[in-house]
Amino acid sequence: MSHELVVRGGRVINEGSEFVGDVAIDAGLVTSLTASGEAAPGDVEMDASGCYVVPGGVDPHVHTGVLFGGFTSRDDFYSCSLAAAFGGTTTIVDFAIPYPREEFTPWSSFQARLAEIEGRAAIDVGLHSSIVRLDDGSLDEIPRLVDAGVTSFKQFTIYRGAVMLSMEDLHRALVALGAAGALAMVHAESAHLVDVYRDRFAAAGMTTAPYHALSRPPIAELDAVRSVIELFRATGTAGYFVHVSTPEAARAIGESRLEGVRVVGETCPQYLFLDERTYQRPDAPLFVCSPPIRGAARSEGMRDLVFNGELATWASDHSAYDTEQKRRFESDFTKMPNGLPGVETRCPLLFSEGVMSGRMSAGQFVRATAAEPARLTGLYPRKGVIAPGADADIAIYDPTVTVRLSTDVLHMDTDYTPFEGMTVRGWPTRVIARGRPIVLDGSFLGRAGDGRFLRRGAPVLS
Ligand code: URP
Ligand code: ZN
Ligand code: ZN
Repeated sequence: MSHELVVRGGRVINEGSEFVGDVAIDAGLVTSLTASGEAAPGDVEMDASGCYVVPGGVDPHVHTGVLFGGFTSRDDFYSCSLAAAFGGTTTIVDFAIPYPREEFTPWSSFQARLAEIEGRAAIDVGLHSSIVRLDDGSLDEIPRLVDAGVTSFKQFTIYRGAVMLSMEDLHRALVALGAAGALAMVHAESAHLVDVYRDRFAAAGMTTAPYHALSRPPIAELDAVRSVIELFRATGTAGYFVHVSTPEAARAIGESRLEGVRVVGETCPQYLFLDERTYQRPDAPLFVCSPPIRGAARSEGMRDLVFNGELATWASDHSAYDTEQKRRFESDFTKMPNGLPGVETRCPLLFSEGVMSGRMSAGQFVRATAAEPARLTGLYPRKGVIAPGADADIAIYDPTVTVRLSTDVLHMDTDYTPFEGMTVRGWPTRVIARGRPIVLDGSFLGRAGDGRFLRRGAPVLS
């Protein structure tokens, strides 16, 4: 008997195990793991000796073609999934946010996003929903969305007048989400602090990009995280803090977990590998995101937390605005689109800075980039692990390849990368999605429409 595809002789890494051997693939699934040379011949053979063979990345926080303050980011589900694949990611979980609030409800926003995925995605895509107002029957739509495989919802304590919920409404939303078995994601920054600081700076004419960061200090995140932890404690709903940017907030989440609160945190490359000096550069508007990039000591603290596994969910928070969009209101941070491109650089940066630098085990890398995001989004063990029966989503990292990050070598639908000039060691030169090679040594073989919408199951907090 032969296999459709055999990845032979690589270091096969899962979060809790590692061996050198062969991965056999048939009909889109992993069919066996065996010692080197023991798999039956493949119709297609890939020699992975000397390489790391890891589960394809699962990026739990992606914004494709997202609307923010009048700006729509440049990509669609084809270009975003192509860029994700080049960076070793084979699953993205994006958002269906009912915004503008007058136009959409959670269900209609979900339908609109499904139509955008259909025929365009080249890798598998899940969707989070979001509760952004309570007076439109949104809560009634939660069970229907959960049944349709949308099992997580992001809420905002910031962006007043757009998507923000009051703490009272957030409390009501958490009760409804908990009752439906959904995961409640929260963007935690306190508007009662940020809006006051923003208005003070604006009144003084201090509106260039550095003031964006100064108007959103670490305490604004910590204050919101602490308050929302208490809501999770009171409701018992499972919680997930997105884009945690400071060690203080990460530790508050970790401590509440020890006290029995069902809550986790996610972080992103910009909070580890950049620091606030970016806001002193002439191109500072390109780095405007919320929460903002923090000082060097906090970046170092975040690196420690991720490398030692205390913060084990690694997301991009990708938004592909381009230079023109980021700079259109370059002297007024209150009008700039927030967010950074990063779906392609998410995994290679952590592989290089963590695994290749010897600060993180390859198993921890797999946990952060694939297994834990898959569990939290209800996709495990179909995604996030190389095991018989799992989708054959695999990234093969060649540790001998060195890449200097720049738009010349990246594929995201934008004209800059926040990590311009950084040298990364190791790269996912070959990527397989549901059994089909979609990236091979610089070429994209994926096809628009091959990516499926994923009906996700119940989120699992480990
Ligand atoms: O600045 C950010 N993070 N933009 C994306 C939207 C969000 O809040 O996640
Ligand atoms: Zn957010
Ligand atoms: Zn986001």
